[in-house]
Amino acid sequence: MLYRLAHRAHLKGHRIRAGLWYRCAYLWCGAEISPGAKIGGGLRLPHPQGVVIGGEVEIGVMVTIGQHATLGGNLGKRDESGRIYPRIGDRCLIFAGAVVAGPIDVGHDTIIGANSVITKSVPSHVVVGGVPGKVLRAWPSGKDSQAGSTGSGEGA
Ligand SMILES: CC(C)(COP(=O)(O)OP(=O)(O)OC[C@H]1O[C@@H](n2cnc3c(N)ncnc32)[C@H](O)[C@@H]1OP(=O)(O)O)[C@@H](O)C(=O)NCCC(=O)NCCS
Repeated sequence: MLYRLAHRAHLKGHRIRAGLWYRCAYLWCGAEISPGAKIGGGLRLPHPQGVVIGGEVEIGVMVTIGQHATLGGNLGKRDESGRIYPRIGDRCLIFAGAVVAGPIDVGHDTIIGANSVITKSVPSHVVVGGVPGKVLRAWPSGKDSQAGSTGSGEGA
């Protein structure tokens, strides 16, 4: 909610107001969500402490992010379009402590394991983990998929 207010102010060019909402969100729940991030509906942060969503990260709908996960740039690396930040697909589940960095794409319904470091694009419907992140196995799609619906607690 506070992120939505910050993002709206950001889109209107009200940088000070956006910054105030951003700080309110940080003080209230311990998550740092950049006003410039583009986040679809249904984001869930069951344990928001330490979550960092930087710059212009793009997140699809119904994504769940665990505590202390970080989504942001990677030493300013850019792709051919000039993009710096990752793009996360719909219904992904990003577990605690994971780092997703750089101008990469994470597909839909993908699970990113705890404490993994993902700096290369990841396809849809897989479980990835490790440092550096590797595909561990396929993840069922459609009705059988549980991505985005695991975990507990209140929404963001
Ligand atoms: C990524 C994850 C979902 C995979 O679960 P899974 O598919 O049941 O995986 P398994 O436990 O069967 O392990 C399969 C392989 O992946 C590896 N693996 C599992 N999780 C991993 C991780 N986070 N990083 C690196 N490798 C991992 C295992 O070592 C195993 O390797 P092996 O086949 O060489 O022995 C799970 O391990 C995970 O990270 N869960 C996080 C839960 C969490 O953060 N809960 C907090 C709630 S508040």
